[in-house]
Amino acid sequence: MNRSGILHIIQVTSLSKSYGDFIAVDNIDLNVEKGKIFGFLGPNGAGKTTTIKLLTTLIPPNNGKINILGIDAVKNPLDVRKRIGVVLQQPSYEPTLSVEKSLEKYGMMWNVDKKTRKQRVEELLVAFDLLDIRKKKNDDLSIGQRRRVQVAREFMHDMDLLFLDEPTVGLDPSARRSLLDYIKGKVKSGLTIFFTTHILEEAEYLCDEIAIINKGRIIAIDTPDQLKTKFGREKTIKIHVQEQNVSSLLSDIDCKIEYNSGVTITVHSDKSEDVLQKILHILASNGITVEDLSVVPTSLEEIFLSVVKNSNESSN
Ligand SMILES: Nc1ncnc2c1ncn2[C@@H]1O[C@H](COP(=O)(O)OP(=O)(O)O)[C@@H](O)[C@H]1O
Ligand SMILES: [Mg+2]
Repeated sequence: MNRSGILHIIQVTSLSKSYGDFIAVDNIDLNVEKGKIFGFLGPNGAGKTTTIKLLTTLIPPNNGKINILGIDAVKNPLDVRKRIGVVLQQPSYEPTLSVEKSLEKYGMMWNVDKKTRKQRVEELLVAFDLLDIRKKKNDDLSIGQRRRVQVAREFMHDMDLLFLDEPTVGLDPSARRSLLDYIKGKVKSGLTIFFTTHILEEAEYLCDEIAIINKGRIIAIDTPDQLKTKFGREKTIKIHVQEQNVSSLLSDIDCKIEYNSGVTITVHSDKSEDVLQKILHILASNGITVEDLSVVPTSLEEIFLSVVKNSNESSN
């Protein structure tokens, strides 16, 4: 218990992990409360998988404390492993087993009794939309189907805490949404989830709290609403024109100009409407026709690049 009486299911202090000279996880602190969905959000290579491997005792830290469910995870890894579920990022399946047998076998490995196993297999086949392919061998499944089986089987056993490393990669939008909703339901009945993703929208939809990690460091921890106001305002504008000589016309605007089959102008801005107006006005008054135009929320990776760039510039 901490001072305010909230039980932290995950408590991490000054956690670091290096591979040789390279620091993959750099002195992170985080707490996760019981019954919450904690999102770990960051671009590729940020240190998400390494953190999951540390928290699930698959690799030892170089430094720091990890307390999981009140257990010192560095000293007593096996006690932790009995009470958690983990779905790692890399695929894991037995090629010749059918979907239903995979679920069944996983339940047996966890000593789930026969009656409960049967019930859970049926429940999971429905929840993960696997009924039609229940007799198919893993080898004959698509990547997305295999991923669904891999995530589904983890729900065969009881656990207090579940770690999911990018569980939705390879899933189509509807499978993605039903997975996220299934997780939400489980959390209502008391499960705590640690979930990684590189997709901001997904973390926003699912998580009570989000840590943003970049280059091994946590650069923000907050509720989705708070993060959205901090990071989510920025949009990316892309405009395609044929005219080659736009760079001098747009010299006042902080944009990237690329020459391809014509010219693509890219701008990241948190005042996208104003910037767009300005550019369109310049183009129109010079008789340049816009061939294509899009305004989309800037991806997290792009936001990171600008946040990191800004922090590097201010520290120089
Ligand atoms: N076993 C390893 N040996 C050396 N470097 C590693 C190893 N595992 C991960 N890394 C490096 O650590 C960094 C973080 O990796 P990872 O935790 O997998 O990131 P993420 O899951 O956020 O994409 C990457 O630069 C990766 O190349
Ligand atoms: Mg990863």
